[in-house]
Amino acid sequence: MKVLVIGSGGREHAIIWKLAQSRVVDKIYCAPGNAGISEIAECIEVENKDFSALVDFVKYEWIDLTVVGPEEPLAKGIIDVFQKEGRRIIGPTKLAAQIESSKVFAKEFMKRHKIPTAEYKVFTSYTHAEEYIRLKGTPIVIKADGLAAGKGVFVCQNYEEAFEALRLIMKEKVFGAAGDKVVIEEFLSGKEASYLVFTDGKNTIPMVTSKDHKRLLDNDEGPNTGGMGTFSPNPIITPELEKEILETIINPTIKGLKQEGIVYKGILYAGLMIVNNKPYVLEFNCRFGDPETQVILPRLETDLVDIFMAISEQKLNKVEVKWKSDASLCVILASEGYPGKYKKGVPITGLEMVKNIKDLFVFHAGTKFNEEGKIVTNGGRVLGVTALGKDIKEARQKVYSAIELIKFEGMQYRKDIGLNI
Ligand code: AMP
Ligand code: GLY
Repeated sequence: MKVLVIGSGGREHAIIWKLAQSRVVDKIYCAPGNAGISEIAECIEVENKDFSALVDFVKYEWIDLTVVGPEEPLAKGIIDVFQKEGRRIIGPTKLAAQIESSKVFAKEFMKRHKIPTAEYKVFTSYTHAEEYIRLKGTPIVIKADGLAAGKGVFVCQNYEEAFEALRLIMKEKVFGAAGDKVVIEEFLSGKEASYLVFTDGKNTIPMVTSKDHKRLLDNDEGPNTGGMGTFSPNPIITPELEKEILETIINPTIKGLKQEGIVYKGILYAGLMIVNNKPYVLEFNCRFGDPETQVILPRLETDLVDIFMAISEQKLNKVEVKWKSDASLCVILASEGYPGKYKKGVPITGLEMVKNIKDLFVFHAGTKFNEEGKIVTNGGRVLGVTALGKDIKEARQKVYSAIELIKFEGMQYRKDIGLNI
């Protein structure tokens, strides 16, 4: 079987790494990929936005299965385009992807279906939004409606921060049309968890639990990023809590979408805040998490193609999904300046030294080969170093010792992933 994976991050590297172990996969392509991915897949230079070029490629190469990593092509309807052409592709349709691509849609949907989430109001007027913030007081959370690469959410401790966030989103339009509407919501204080499931619209199979660390700096300080590190399992999710998450969040979401005429197929990811042992939805994502995937897939024993085929044929109830009991942990190595402006083209050293360490995987994100064939940085998040261990402590030790060997100028990373759990 031939597979095409769309995307270029650590998440896509982890997906391809897992697909490469499948008993049925002969060849993997990636559009556009990165330096690490090019070692196990053939990278093709087709723009992710160019759906007709991607469909042409799939037809020309007789590709059997396409997997979409990032949210943007999903939000723009890549699934609909492929399906119209009769091509097998994994992910939700444009309508279904709104659960991530519009925070207003997601919040209103949750309200209609009584899915627990923070109280909120939607605004299109700056003045009304400002009045509401004064009425509610701080801390308060301000979110741009549309996609903003994980950077459209502002947790504001005081009025100054809140009005600045509002100004950036609504007046300066730093996220463009994504900021035409804002969601202003109650600040929830608790512990975060990522909860991902595979679903075919009828059946659901949970993945192992995980926790992301969105803030740039240790002790959850600094600005929000796409994610600076993860571990799995997330011990805050007890079996009782997991039951509650499925009963009050995941199942009602898939059922609710179905009632509204949307069959959701693919990966559903709920970003949760656990407050006094109760789960609340902070956000939904319509795809695998990055860097959650880098800790989840190394724990998966089942052939990922079996799962994808079952999603596509709505036969997920026929697949037994097995997980390793090992824990896993991933630390992101980022460029200096990220999540703001950063340099590209900085040489990376030490990758060869960690290549053969058992149960240690370096998933590439923003990397490429330069003209001399050397691996250099090519993005904000550059590498994700993941290890499996008998527990999180062991996985953590392996990851941080490997990081000692990897170097690039300006490299920044959190030192506290998995430290205080
Ligand atoms: P989101 O992209 O909506 O998940 O938000 C990004 C991050 O902002 C989350 O991972 C939380 O750390 C924080 N956050 C979002 N919404 C809230 C909320 N209502 N209360 C507290 N923190 C929040
Ligand atoms: N790790 C957060 C995300 O994938 O959105």
